[in-house]
Amino acid sequence: MLVQYFFLRSRIYIFLSFLFLFSCDDSERKETELTIAQRVNELMDKMTLQEKIGQMNQYNGFWNVTGPSPKEGNAKEKYDHLAEGLVGSMLNVRGAKDVRAVQEVVVNQSRLGIPLIIGFDLIHGYKTISPIPLAESASWDLEAIRNSAALGAKEASAAGINWTFAPMVDISRDARWGRVMEGAGEDPYLGSLVAAARVKGFQGNDLSSSSTVAACAKHFAAYGLAESGRDYNTVDVGEHTLHNIILPPFKAAADAGVRTFMNAFNELNGIPATADKMLQRDILKGDWGFDGFIVSDWGSLKEMIVHGYAQDKKHAAELAVKAGSDMDMESYIYLAELESLIENGHVAIEQIDDAVRRILTIKFELGLFDDPFHYCDTTREQEITGSPEIREGALEMAKKSIVLLKNAEATLPLKKEGQTIALIGPLASDKNSPLGNWRIAGDNNSAVSVLEGMLKYGGNTLIHEQGVKLVNEIPAFHKEVDINNTDRSGMKAAKVAAKNADVVVMVLGEYGFQSGEGRSRSKLDLPGLQQELLEEIYAINTNIILVLMNGRPLVLNWADEHLPAIIEAWHLGTESGNAIAQVLYGEYNPSGKLPMSFPRSVGQIPLYYNHKNTGRPGTEGADAGSVFWSHYGDEKNSPLFPFGFGLSYTQFEYSEITLNETILTNGNTIEASVTLTNVGNVEGKEVVQMYIRDHFASVTRPVRELKGFELVALEPGESKEIIFEITPETLAFYSANKQWEAEPGAFSLFIGTNSATTRSVDFKLE
Ligand code: BGC
Repeated sequence: MLVQYFFLRSRIYIFLSFLFLFSCDDSERKETELTIAQRVNELMDKMTLQEKIGQMNQYNGFWNVTGPSPKEGNAKEKYDHLAEGLVGSMLNVRGAKDVRAVQEVVVNQSRLGIPLIIGFDLIHGYKTISPIPLAESASWDLEAIRNSAALGAKEASAAGINWTFAPMVDISRDARWGRVMEGAGEDPYLGSLVAAARVKGFQGNDLSSSSTVAACAKHFAAYGLAESGRDYNTVDVGEHTLHNIILPPFKAAADAGVRTFMNAFNELNGIPATADKMLQRDILKGDWGFDGFIVSDWGSLKEMIVHGYAQDKKHAAELAVKAGSDMDMESYIYLAELESLIENGHVAIEQIDDAVRRILTIKFELGLFDDPFHYCDTTREQEITGSPEIREGALEMAKKSIVLLKNAEATLPLKKEGQTIALIGPLASDKNSPLGNWRIAGDNNSAVSVLEGMLKYGGNTLIHEQGVKLVNEIPAFHKEVDINNTDRSGMKAAKVAAKNADVVVMVLGEYGFQSGEGRSRSKLDLPGLQQELLEEIYAINTNIILVLMNGRPLVLNWADEHLPAIIEAWHLGTESGNAIAQVLYGEYNPSGKLPMSFPRSVGQIPLYYNHKNTGRPGTEGADAGSVFWSHYGDEKNSPLFPFGFGLSYTQFEYSEITLNETILTNGNTIEASVTLTNVGNVEGKEVVQMYIRDHFASVTRPVRELKGFELVALEPGESKEIIFEITPETLAFYSANKQWEAEPGAFSLFIGTNSATTRSVDFKLE
């Protein structure tokens, strides 16, 4: 009865909301927001303390995907809690039918029938897998990235999901960390724009639409700076790195309206992020005015005991809730401990009310109170899953994500006929690895392989040999990848194929589950016998095009030194092979640029372009003879491929930079312009990048920082003037005054094709 009454009232509210929306000026729109606030308040008035705490409790589905397995036995307990209204959210329940089933339990059986918010790691596509986020970021195409997230949301929401644990906006400077595949790379400026694009893509303009999902900026904060790149490891960074490097993408996500945040497994400067009040209450909910809710990471409440920060579960609950963690993912701690903590006065009821208010507000915004089943339409699910629109979107995104790292003497594109091509390598026919990690709903072996993609071009003779296997057995999600280091039985056939070929295409790299959570590596070379295979084939035929599939930067010195062409094709998802074939055959001219520096050696890591100058920077080579400068005796300081690097099948020429003024004053703008010309023979796209160096400041500044870019498409012979506007805000940073401000002084401005560009002009801020 209560439930019916509730829904009847919901409908009246929805009707009123519509009236407001369609009549509306700003003040009336506020009324609509007020209406949600009122609805939340009215509901909260009816809730018992346990029901409130229940909203802060999130359970995994009755199977396990990302963390230590819940004991089989507790499925029944979880079910009972659903029916008792003691669960606010579930994750990893998916499919319109299953989500409806679980939603029916709470809606029909629990006292107040408060619908669940259904979370899922929609990291790069749902069933149709798009490129891993690091690859998408290599497109520098914000509209494409937004669209890719929107298509993912469309497919996932048709399968009952209404909340994604994405985007991951952790800045990372360490390719050993397996989760670099999930983020946008090393740069806070690019990372911020990508974060905002993803949030807008997932959430769209209307959260209550059945095609959008609430987004979640994670992992708050600093998880990407885990020491030694080892997952879950300690993070110890100063406040300037925190504010200038780590926080900007989170702020951008908040500004883009992201509705939820996830905290993190790591400790930051001695405090586990889950209990970090400064991050969650002071910065996020305080300074940034974030009014959504924060979910913990999987079991991160109980891990605070292991960190040595919480004494026991009760203490963990107290620390987390006081710090502003609103929802407990799979620690079972809030439900068990919060009630007594309130009763004995250790936690204030206001903090519970605040958390519940935030959670319920988003449920209202998602339209779950108006129709808890509006994401659960099986007909719609069938129509949308794998639809042509979503497949085409995945293909477009995949092509845009590819980075051409080397193309000596125009080795690429391949001729379309009359050639014998040997396609060699363990990943050439692999239909699983291109899906990458975090493709929970994706079907195994559902990617188009490079072999399949290339077979669509019939004019050449294509011979395929694996050469070596990359893995001995297909790993289950939680298993360590078992790399093959011994079986060379396929080498001989591969060599024969190479001998008779005009050109060899080798597809090498990392197995799909070799990057991602829990997949840190201490070596960044080609795993297993792949380097050996590469060198053996090279001894027979030097005309090798290397196609790389990987989830992180790799060390590619040998390949760069010896091979004429290298394509960075990441893990590109379902349409992988089609995208790669189109690039190989020149149907698509690559324009991707690296979102992370590629090292020459693991020993250089952490490696990033926006480093500090030090007091003894030296200049590569120039200080030969002296050792007293910041360098390695056995390796250059520079990366093999710098941040922002990527080639095209055409060539671009940059003019010198022109500034309309050389002195910038408050409230004014300087315009920096270059003319870009396509001096090659085919149309192509270039990411024109603008970097700035602040020569002295109250806190030392990086040697340069990306501050603008534009993706420009040009026909052969065509030119375009690109203008960047610089204002004092462009120059602002978190200063010694502990605030964002620009400080007067001398600056250099660089415009060019990657972060190593030397074309520069100087200006001053007065
Ligand atoms: C990861 C999160 C993820 C969560 C739920 C955790 O292990 O760190 O990023 O969203 O699992 O799957």
